[in-house]
Amino acid sequence: MRVLFVTSEAHPLVKTGGLADVAGALPVALTRLGVDARILMPAYTGLLDRVEVTGHGFGLGEVLPNVRARLVPAREPTTGQSLLLVDCPALFERPGGPYLDEHAQDWPDNFLRFGLLGRAGAMVAAQGAVPDWAPDVVHASDWQAGLTPAYLWLWGVHKPRTVFTVHNLHYQGIFGREVLPMIGLPDMMFGVEGLEFYGHVSYLKAGLYYSQFLTTVSPTYAREIQTPMGGEGLHGLLSSRAARLQGILNGVDRSEWNPTGDRHIPAAFSAQDLSGKALCKAALQREVGLAEAPDAPLFGVVSRFVEQKGIDLALSVISTILDNGGQIVILGSGDPGLEWHVRGAAGARPDSVAARIGYDEGLSHRIQAGCDALLVPSRFEPCGLTQMYAMCYGTLPIVRRTGGLADTVIDVAEADSGTGFVFDHPDPGEVIHAVRRAVELYRTPAAWQAVMRKAMGVDYGWDRVARDYLGLYSEVLHAD
Ligand code: ADP
Ligand code: GLC
Repeated sequence: MRVLFVTSEAHPLVKTGGLADVAGALPVALTRLGVDARILMPAYTGLLDRVEVTGHGFGLGEVLPNVRARLVPAREPTTGQSLLLVDCPALFERPGGPYLDEHAQDWPDNFLRFGLLGRAGAMVAAQGAVPDWAPDVVHASDWQAGLTPAYLWLWGVHKPRTVFTVHNLHYQGIFGREVLPMIGLPDMMFGVEGLEFYGHVSYLKAGLYYSQFLTTVSPTYAREIQTPMGGEGLHGLLSSRAARLQGILNGVDRSEWNPTGDRHIPAAFSAQDLSGKALCKAALQREVGLAEAPDAPLFGVVSRFVEQKGIDLALSVISTILDNGGQIVILGSGDPGLEWHVRGAAGARPDSVAARIGYDEGLSHRIQAGCDALLVPSRFEPCGLTQMYAMCYGTLPIVRRTGGLADTVIDVAEADSGTGFVFDHPDPGEVIHAVRRAVELYRTPAAWQAVMRKAMGVDYGWDRVARDYLGLYSEVLHAD
């Protein structure tokens, strides 16, 4: 089976969040199952120098009015994963990130940049853009790839089949109606039965409306997005498509996130031999300037600083952590107000509160390895990967019961198989209570270590998940 993944980021090439982890790992896991998987993504600045280019580029001509591009076949050097890179320097080669400029503002031409990605996906799928290769299934992710199914529908193409995955319903790719001619889509698609959303063009809705099958990244989030509370205005459409909407929990890339062999951490450890974790904790305390206190419960946060993630709730629990002789290290960036508050908390108690504002892949691993507990107090969370990474490192997660957090963390008070601490409402009192329960358990090392071992024993590998996707692709291929 041949599968084309259309995505705007993939680890280790470009990453702003969990989409990259998933888009990087799932195709590799499918390849292990015999699938011919290729990732189509933009050739952002410098990317062509970081991959192994495997052939001549294919000219795509004028993909959109006045936008010319070519496709470069390549391989990701560490995994050998096949790539197709959309080369268009005018749109993709610039300083800044994949979605935001250097001042953290959306690129004003994002509609065109991801219009190009979407159309290139449709051209590979149905117009023979790559000689000798066409997919059976196109698997597009999030709004950035939402137009691929829309072009295929417009062209009357039913094969390849389209699967669209929602990693986060909150980001919708909303643009003014005037973009339609610039992305080569006709007015007749601008309606409730189409890609219109409250008078605007929604790339996310295009993906949801025109794809044959929809998935999201956890079973609970699949249910939540069909309700007015969690549906971000799209619950009607999503519930009308319920028969073709499935939640498949993400996996963990164990070649990246594994305490027995992680190039980012100073000492290896395992469920059988936890001794290396103490070394990781001491090294982390030194690295971020905390007091080297082996018995202080050390909490961590690794997160984008956005409303979704409940960073304000994490801040509200700091005094409880300190009152209990604990410490906290926070790594993340985003909202300038939250960055300011996090810095302020660290400035007030530098021996016990550490803040690292920015993006640091290596430190994110060292926090997972060195902390005792990880706080993930999200308001909503489609899947969430950091709580699963934490469990792999015997770092007990403290999470809100929502989306994928609810599907991955069992509260120690609710079952013998408990692996963490779960609270229900995004309310400071509930987070404080959960942290108090964690500190209490921490004070009984044997009990805490028993839970660590349970957390480390959960199998989150991608192989099982890839088999679910393969089953889904086969089902989609055989559906009418
Ligand atoms: P989301 O995709 O919503 O941001 P996930 O939990 O699915 O949430 O994935 C977040 C990913 O991004 C994880 O791999 C996490 O380690 C990583 N991450 C988030 N913030 C940072 C940061 N500041 N530095 C390094 N890695 C980060
Ligand atoms: C999104 C979600 C996150 C999920 C990730 C990967 O960024 O916010 O919950 O884990 O995608 O699917």
